[in-house]
Amino acid sequence: MAPEPALRLRGITKRYGAVVACDGVDLTLERGEIHGLLGENGAGKSTLMRILLGLETQDSGAIDRDGRAVTITGPRQAAALGISMVHQHFSLVDPLAVWENVALGQSGPVRRAAVRAGVRAAAERYGLAIDPDARVGSLSAGERQRVELLKCLRRDPAVLIMDEPTSVLTRAESAELFAVLRRVVAAEHRAVVLISHKLAEITTATDRVTVIRAGRVVLRRATAATTEAELAREMVGREVTLGAAVGVLPHAPAPAAPASSQAALRLRGLTTRPGLDDLCLTVHAGEIVGLYGAEGNGQKSLGDVLSGLTVPDAGTVEVAGAPVDLRRPGALSAAGLGIVPEDRHHAGVVLDLSVAENLVMTRLGDVSGRVFVDRRRLRRRARALADEYGITAPSLDSPLRTLSGGNQQRVVLARELSGRPRVLVAAQPSRGLDVGAVEDLYARLRRCASDGIAVLVISTELEEILALTTRVATIFRGRIVGELPTAQADAERLGLLTGGAA
Ligand SMILES: Nc1ncnc2c1ncn2[C@@H]1O[C@H](COP(=O)(O)OP(=O)(O)OP(=O)(O)O)[C@@H](O)[C@H]1O
Ligand SMILES: [Mg+2]
Repeated sequence: MAPEPALRLRGITKRYGAVVACDGVDLTLERGEIHGLLGENGAGKSTLMRILLGLETQDSGAIDRDGRAVTITGPRQAAALGISMVHQHFSLVDPLAVWENVALGQSGPVRRAAVRAGVRAAAERYGLAIDPDARVGSLSAGERQRVELLKCLRRDPAVLIMDEPTSVLTRAESAELFAVLRRVVAAEHRAVVLISHKLAEITTATDRVTVIRAGRVVLRRATAATTEAELAREMVGREVTLGAAVGVLPHAPAPAAPASSQAALRLRGLTTRPGLDDLCLTVHAGEIVGLYGAEGNGQKSLGDVLSGLTVPDAGTVEVAGAPVDLRRPGALSAAGLGIVPEDRHHAGVVLDLSVAENLVMTRLGDVSGRVFVDRRRLRRRARALADEYGITAPSLDSPLRTLSGGNQQRVVLARELSGRPRVLVAAQPSRGLDVGAVEDLYARLRRCASDGIAVLVISTELEEILALTTRVATIFRGRIVGELPTAQADAERLGLLTGGAA
């Protein structure tokens, strides 16, 4: 007799008002497999996983664990059933040490020596090199991911769910993560669910795939029997041209308009402690400049300065030749700088405000009547933006937190790109977007540049830099360490430059 699957979902349906997030989903997770779950933004992936964790309750359908029907009433019970999730947004506490973070989720008395030894043992067993005494605040994204994973694995889950775990990792880091997952699956017979928008990752890391579209399963396959093209087509329900998502984009096309000599954005000697060390960079109107480097080399500090969240210790920001008073709130936006921040949950949106309000938040000038905000105009403008950017929302009046991850992101992009800025800064702009949305985004950024906007893309993804930019500057320890036209850049050269070799 074949062993029962670790988890079997039968006919799971979940509605939010008129939205059917999951529509009769059948899904079987076998022990010893990595199962890829794919679908467009808003397809229902996270909702399905939240049901497995007891964070949501299905309207109908049943769940079997090892062949026995179970009702999952909350995360505690999910954990007791051996179901555990590595969350997309890190849930670590920066000032605490690695071992303290690992102990946080644990019930019962915490003995320092035992936890530290446990962390060491687990790190050894899974090949997740980490120092139990390191402060989490000082770790890179890849190291944080390891801590999250260790925390999860220490609970010994039979089913391990990862919702877009690799979106913050470099290519080397995600390769490492997949090697660990392989070990976990092969040696310990756990079942892993991997949600990712990167098709190349799905085809290399998983054994089987399930594609959902608008809440319904549309494809179930052994990974070896499918292709990236088929997966993309099933996700969106039509033929698509494959680009960034499969990592096969050629070098960036020549800039549509020759870069003018006017410096639209000039950063001089920007210094923040810690973070930036005398950073100098110029972006001209009509250019798309990429700022490339491994995570944790000052990109976040630069984003914070350009969002107006941090006043630098030294240095200046000039927009169109005029210095901006960085101590004045709103000065950057008033000078014509739009920004899509890296951590959209911190700086980009207000989760409890409506979709419509978030869409027009920094652009109230467009919708204010003489004194009051004109609700009708606000709605009209929000509706137009939602249509143009393909934002799926229960309604424009729903709080932003009810949107899927990718749709929240589209809201920030729509607002900042439509603001007709002089300078547009986009940090990790494709993170969390589905295949189609990434291509759409790239087309829009190119159009911005050919309309004469100066575009600065801050990215840790090589494919994105090569596909999108006209010039690359590399950042290392808060400084620009190299600069070259993208046409002369390749993985090896950029690798050397980002290692600080220049
Ligand atoms: N609390 C809620 N209230 C209303 N609608 C919701 C709620 N939570 C989710 N939804 C809706 O359910 C649908 C599925 O969302 P879900 O987050 O599962 O998508 P997803 O596949 O994870 O997408 P993404 O790739 O963008 O993360 C979306 O239309 C979303 O707006
Ligand atoms: Mg999601």
